[in-house]
Amino acid sequence: MAQERFLDGPMPDIVAQWRQYFSWLDPRAGEAVIDVGCDTGDAARFLAQEYPAVGQIMGVEADERRYLRAIERWRSGGDDCRVEFRRADARHLPFENATFDKAICAETLEFVNPPIEALMELRRVLRPGGIALVVHTDWETQVFSTSDRARSRRAVLAFAGDGQGAGMGRQLYHLCRQAGFAVVEPMVYTLVNAGWQEDHYAPRVVELMSQWLAETEFGAGELAQWRADVADAVADGSFFYAVSRFVCRCRP
Ligand SMILES: C[S@@+](CC[C@H](N)C(=O)[O-])C[C@H]1O[C@@H](n2cnc3c(N)ncnc32)[C@H](O)[C@@H]1O
Repeated sequence: MAQERFLDGPMPDIVAQWRQYFSWLDPRAGEAVIDVGCDTGDAARFLAQEYPAVGQIMGVEADERRYLRAIERWRSGGDDCRVEFRRADARHLPFENATFDKAICAETLEFVNPPIEALMELRRVLRPGGIALVVHTDWETQVFSTSDRARSRRAVLAFAGDGQGAGMGRQLYHLCRQAGFAVVEPMVYTLVNAGWQEDHYAPRVVELMSQWLAETEFGAGELAQWRADVADAVADGSFFYAVSRFVCRCRP
């Protein structure tokens, strides 16, 4: 969330994050890679750019508008026939068993019910010896260096909520095991913004949180104060932000 479109007017911290994800995935020459929950396709495009020897890149997206946008954006960027997008549900992937060498599913499981069905599908479409990289942010791990730590914590907890997204990061390892992956390596990617830069992640996440919190019981006054705390930290140069994405590198 808040990172889906990172290539055009690039977000350098999110570009670095995907570079690390792909290095964990280790796509090799000629391999077929699937990205489940690909949104408008930035990660698929970035993979094609960074790994020109990869054989095939398949982006899967359930939402029609995002799927059509992925196709449109890809076509406007060139005619690399290695990249394809399909509109499909992560729980019912329209591919034969053992079709892909590598798979990635990032920030998507909180929207899939039940999430384990998407993981079982990911495992089914992977070839023996393949790798699936499953990523989910744990929103409670966010830290903002504002003067009122307790208020910041309340904002973080209210944003994390208590829905499926709240605990997904920390449940990921056990879900991957339950889905039948033989090997699951738990890892973490901590994104750090050691200052406020408009093209980085923190400004987008503050906007996203503000929109979200405005619709909850957090309270307009509390939200305005939290935003003012952030603005103060930016103004006096002390702003610092970090969030942890939990990552499981899985083998079928
Ligand atoms: C928060 S975005 C993450 C996008 C991208 N993977 C990333 O890490 O930035 C989640 C995406 O998953 C898609 N999605 C949600 N449920 C899905 C499902 N059941 N099958 C496939 N895609 C789904 C959403 O439409 C959305 O584009």
